[in-house]
Amino acid sequence: MPLSMKILSIDTSCDDTSIAVVEVENKRFKILSNIISSQVELHTKYGGVYPTLAKREHQKNLVPVLKKALKQAGLLNLKFKVQSSKLQSKVKSLEKILEREEILRPELVKFLGKYQKPKIDAIAVTAGPGLEPCLWVGVNFARALALWWDLPIIPVNHLEAHILANFVNEKSWQRSDLSKKEKNIIKAKRGLTFPAVGLVVSGGNTQLLLIKDIGKYKLLGETRDDAAGECFDKTARILGLGYPGGPAIAAQAAKFSIFNFQFSNKIKIQLPRPMINSQNYDFSFSGLKTAVLYDYKKRRKAVRESEEYKIATAREIQQAVIDVLLKKTSRAAKDFKAKTIILGGGVAANNELQKQFKVYCLKSTVDFWVPPKNLCTDNAAMVGITAIFHFQNQKKWDKIKPNANLII
Ligand code: KG4
Repeated sequence: MPLSMKILSIDTSCDDTSIAVVEVENKRFKILSNIISSQVELHTKYGGVYPTLAKREHQKNLVPVLKKALKQAGLLNLKFKVQSSKLQSKVKSLEKILEREEILRPELVKFLGKYQKPKIDAIAVTAGPGLEPCLWVGVNFARALALWWDLPIIPVNHLEAHILANFVNEKSWQRSDLSKKEKNIIKAKRGLTFPAVGLVVSGGNTQLLLIKDIGKYKLLGETRDDAAGECFDKTARILGLGYPGGPAIAAQAAKFSIFNFQFSNKIKIQLPRPMINSQNYDFSFSGLKTAVLYDYKKRRKAVRESEEYKIATAREIQQAVIDVLLKKTSRAAKDFKAKTIILGGGVAANNELQKQFKVYCLKSTVDFWVPPKNLCTDNAAMVGITAIFHFQNQKKWDKIKPNANLII
């Protein structure tokens, strides 16, 4: 790892446009900015993400998000003089790179004519996996900036970034709701130790990894159909709870203990825990979604539209997902004698999931790491952190392209 370095990082893998500036100094990361422009409102209308719509939004958002990220990092400075004519050839190359990004192109040309090159050492961008049209906008944007500012690009694997988000600081533990006693146990442990088992749970992925060291990963298992986040999104839609489904289900489920005494006997719902006992590390969540749909359909209208039904069902969905994730992850940790369990991805932001993993890890002798919530869901800071670990993997702007199916 370099002693000191500043990176501008970009993530457009799904429906969030995010740009960050991350600095490393003596192995400590500092997030100077991490701007996320969410497209939730747009996708709420459709109950999911439409790649071409998302691509259009990224094109609109990238320049304003870049401005905010540089400004917050103290790196946005106006040019002293107007652009000279010798730059015209660069404009041509830049326009060629952004040939297909017709909304973004004029905005970026204007921006680059107005502001100075920021004091950064490289540009990092998510190269995959993700939605192909979305990845292309981000990568082309990074290529255009790299060409203009004459900087190298570091392509980043989005899944690895979810894992390495845990390195943002070594105090992740203190951020969660730990008791004093628990904090003292944690204080005794220092740093993230390997081998570790990593669980990446998001809207697009559910993967269990054996992590021997940074950069040394082995895929142990993954979902055979829907990802855990996708299951939350789809079941929330069935229940009419909105998008994204994970936080909506979690909010309903949290009401259960408050209202439990009032209706616990009224509504009984038991959902399956797919593949929980299978002798592998794979997952399957589409059966859970179907079971929710069947249960919903068989209920009387008055029942399925009642708050009690939504709360009881949300709680059972959340618990079914947690049961499967915890069982498989803890089994992998035992089988591979892991010293640490590492979570990452949007679903890892779930309070109840964090709580139950924490309880398991405190009982066994395994360390538990989860990023702060704003770094669980998609963000560019995690892309910058990952790029710093792989800073030797620098590429020229014309040597990179996205890969929607990139594996870890
Ligand atoms: O990692 P992410 O932001 O995007 C990708 O899919 O790459 O994850 C988004 C997913 C969505 O499916 C969302 O419903 C889920 O993470 N999610 C949650 C929570 N917050 C976001 N799931 C459960 N509980 C949450 N608190």
